[in-house]
Amino acid sequence: MSALSFDGRHVLVLGERLAPLAQEALGAARFEVASAERLDFLADLHAAMELILIDAEAADPTALVGALSALAARPNPPALLLAGAHLPASLVRALMKAPRSDVLEPPFTGADLARAASSLLTEVSAPAASPHDARCWTVIGSVGGCGATTIAVELATTLSHRLPGARVALVDLNLVDGASAAYLGATPNMMLSEAAATPERIDAAILSAFAIRVGASLDLLATPRDPQAFARVNQTAVCRVLEVACQVYDWIVIDLPRHQQPWSLDVLSGSDEVLVVSELTVPALLAARSLASEIEASIPDGPRPRIILNRLASRVFGPAPSLAEAEKALQRKADGGITSDWEAAAASVNLGGSISHHRPRSKIVRDIGVLVDRLTQTAPEVRARRA
Ligand SMILES: Nc1ncnc2c1ncn2[C@@H]1O[C@H](COP(=O)(O)OP(=O)(O)OP(=O)(O)O)[C@@H](O)[C@H]1O
Ligand SMILES: [Mg+2]
Repeated sequence: MSALSFDGRHVLVLGERLAPLAQEALGAARFEVASAERLDFLADLHAAMELILIDAEAADPTALVGALSALAARPNPPALLLAGAHLPASLVRALMKAPRSDVLEPPFTGADLARAASSLLTEVSAPAASPHDARCWTVIGSVGGCGATTIAVELATTLSHRLPGARVALVDLNLVDGASAAYLGATPNMMLSEAAATPERIDAAILSAFAIRVGASLDLLATPRDPQAFARVNQTAVCRVLEVACQVYDWIVIDLPRHQQPWSLDVLSGSDEVLVVSELTVPALLAARSLASEIEASIPDGPRPRIILNRLASRVFGPAPSLAEAEKALQRKADGGITSDWEAAAASVNLGGSISHHRPRSKIVRDIGVLVDRLTQTAPEVRARRA
């Protein structure tokens, strides 16, 4: 690999001493330089990072072993290049767990460094192309305002808390006016209208630039408001974003608009779970029944939609269907129920952040936890059916 071919590659240098030589050797790479003394930020390292150069002598060996082991356990770990002599065995063992790693013993030149980095980065391309077994849950509302976005946000947040080390993404495909970013108090940055002209260029680096970190291991992919977005964003671009997201993340929760788009069936058929959200009113239940039947008819081999009843109230003002009546209207069993808690829902959207963060004792949080338990328990069986 020539110096030119480092162009745009994402390289992190840990240890300021190494930075000048790395910059000389790797030319036009995109550098980030950090001190090797504090490594805890590596837990939140963005997925586009391709190579980490580490001055082993500048780091605490125990902290470095922990950081390298955590990096090696990631779905697509970056290549690791350690500079140092007389490395402790525990460090070498941690390094060996990474699929691509090497050691440079001082003294070394810029050319030595470029050669080692080049061979590590060349090896990177092959595994990156292989599909990563990400799970994907899609949430769709039966009628407007029934709580689909609220449930998608809480599912993604709960999964990211429950699965330490896993990377979770909430993808909001309500491209015109998705509310997930506002609910989480974040600024959406998925510039899909612009990227749609050259969808083949959407890769892990672009996805990383689109993503907003909204939790320790939770990213949000959401578009800024754009009234023309459904006309501007084509099927190829949406499918490409999801394809790359499946390589980068372990778990994806999609907030899917209920009005069918040219890419809706692609999204639904690629999902492990489809959750149709309804509220407990007759029109919403009838719409949920129709929507679930339409999905089943359109993708007979896809996941069977599950009905989630939202805003269940123990004390109902005015006549509302009972659960038995709801299931009769749906002509199927409901697969989950979320209690109504207006105070918690309003507090969360007004403060910006999940309900589990602002109102952890809300029954909504408890019910979402039960739903996650149920769905994750069925995950192996779902995977077997899809294989
Ligand atoms: N279980 C619940 N208890 C109380 N309020 C809720 C609950 N779920 C959602 N809400 C509230 O209902 C309103 C609509 O919710 P949300 O935006 O999630 O619905 P939606 O189906 O995504 O709507 P849209 O059709 O606009 O996409 C919001 O104010 C939200 O805070
Ligand atoms: Mg919504």
